[in-house]
Amino acid sequence: MKLTISILKADVGSIGGHTRPSDRMLDAVRADCATAVRSGLLIDTFVGHTGDDICITCTHTRGPLNTEVHQFAWNAFMKATGIARDYGLYGAGQDLLVDAPSGNIRGAGPAVAEVEFDHDPVKTNRVRPAESFMVLAADKCGPGAYNLPLFLGFADPMYCGGLMLPRLSEGFTFNIIDMDNTEGDSIISLNAPEDYYKITVLLRDNERFGIDSIVSRHTGQMAAAISATRMHNIAGTYTGKDDPVAIVRNQGVFPAPEELISPFAKAHFIGGDARGSHVMPLMPVAINTSVTGMYCLPLVSCIGFSLAPKGNFSDSFCDFFDNVAWDYVRNLAQEKGIQMRSQGWSGAAMLPYGELEYSGFRTSITDLVNQFAIKDTNGAHPATAKPAAARKR
Ligand code: 13P
Ligand code: MG
Ligand code: MG
Repeated sequence: MKLTISILKADVGSIGGHTRPSDRMLDAVRADCATAVRSGLLIDTFVGHTGDDICITCTHTRGPLNTEVHQFAWNAFMKATGIARDYGLYGAGQDLLVDAPSGNIRGAGPAVAEVEFDHDPVKTNRVRPAESFMVLAADKCGPGAYNLPLFLGFADPMYCGGLMLPRLSEGFTFNIIDMDNTEGDSIISLNAPEDYYKITVLLRDNERFGIDSIVSRHTGQMAAAISATRMHNIAGTYTGKDDPVAIVRNQGVFPAPEELISPFAKAHFIGGDARGSHVMPLMPVAINTSVTGMYCLPLVSCIGFSLAPKGNFSDSFCDFFDNVAWDYVRNLAQEKGIQMRSQGWSGAAMLPYGELEYSGFRTSITDLVNQFAIKDTNGAHPATAKPAAARKR
């Protein structure tokens, strides 16, 4: 059967600041998920939170961008918003940027990542005798938070030794989106390994270019889907950080989990963090972790599922970062974070002006920029010159 995995994620309110949604909100979303399974809309669901974002992972047979599935998620997020309002939580309804989306909810605020594939997990199926996948969710992060780790996991044999094996050595196609193009989804497809340098030239810019999806060149199967959009391009103003989610299929014709998560051991610096305006390391954490760290610290969770023949999840899940093996990386992230914070607002510690464009920082900077005045021809300071903003152009 053709099966779709959908991840739909939104920040619709959190306790004590932007830390985590309340249990009541999560319970309400879980109850809606149970109803959707009973009604036959969805096959299976899992609800968790990473920081202040509620993430619904579900399976169904309705394909990507399906109106009913997306409306179900929107309504569940609306219900959680109502609870957040009732209890006076912070940022109630923050990511629901439109009044009522008519069809799918992509571009309406929530993050969406979806993969559709033929699901026939039998021993004789040479492509996918078993389906296993990971769900990544990040909080306090810019849209390109996964650019480096997913590139390394799918294109660099230093991280993914499997790329030296026959079926994987044909490489992967990276569909990269230009998130500054607001006319629509503007995509370029580049192939690893031959376009390796071209891919890096784009992916180095986490704020403008993001991996939209990754496709196996051996099978044509989609290996990964990422929610790469810039929230402020949708809202026109800063409403919160993008906090991307991703589905990554693993094993067999795709990299193995350890190959995919190894690059996260870098705790690499990304844009995001406090007020979405800083540069801090990405810390791998267990699912359902609150944001309580020093200056936030961007978080990423990663849980794994297997799929039964009928499309329902394994009876449990595997929490990849909930393990002492990652304690060292968490300490590394803290150390890197403390080092970066020691330079406060200076230079690389904060995002550049262009990225602050839509936040309150822009207003502060622009107020001052408008007061600059050109020195007179003798080089004297124009003490009496009118502020630039007051001068006629
Ligand atoms: P969220 O997008 O997680 O709400 O974070 C926004 C922010 O500005 C953190 O300081
Ligand atoms: Mg928030
Ligand atoms: Mg968030």
